[in-house]
Amino acid sequence: MKILILNGPNLNLLGTREPDKYGNQTLSDIENYVRSIASELKVEVDFYQSNIEGELVNSIQGAKNKYDGIVINPAAYTHTSVAIRDAILAVQIPAVEIHLSNIHTREEFRKTSLTAPACIGQITGFGAASYKLGLISIVDYLKQKGIN
Ligand code: DQA
Repeated sequence: MKILILNGPNLNLLGTREPDKYGNQTLSDIENYVRSIASELKVEVDFYQSNIEGELVNSIQGAKNKYDGIVINPAAYTHTSVAIRDAILAVQIPAVEIHLSNIHTREEFRKTSLTAPACIGQITGFGAASYKLGLISIVDYLKQKGIN
């Protein structure tokens, strides 16, 4: 089983970016943490981060026939991107949306996710553990579908 883990804009700045909201871990700390969980689960993971909407769309399109599932933190594009939502729907790869912070307890504009309706579900508010929970959720979903 191969899972693609996608990160949107400004998540490359984790560690120094608003640590009160997003924690002290860098994106590469989180990647190492997720890799250790992936190896326990015996699944393969690849990571991609971009600040550019079209690059995230290209990466979702490129996942077709390569990945069984996607875990995505679309970051600010969560609240704006019809293109990312449409890309997830177009490739028909099961996806789980994740957020470090709880988007439902923050500003009004963050409470709407345009991308979540294209996903199986959303995990929000558990810090770096949202990545772990996202991975566990997609792996469990795919195993139930008979994908190993
Ligand atoms: C975020 C929440 C978004 O609203 C914000 O724009 C981000 C990070 C999170 O992981 O909590 O960049 O996706």
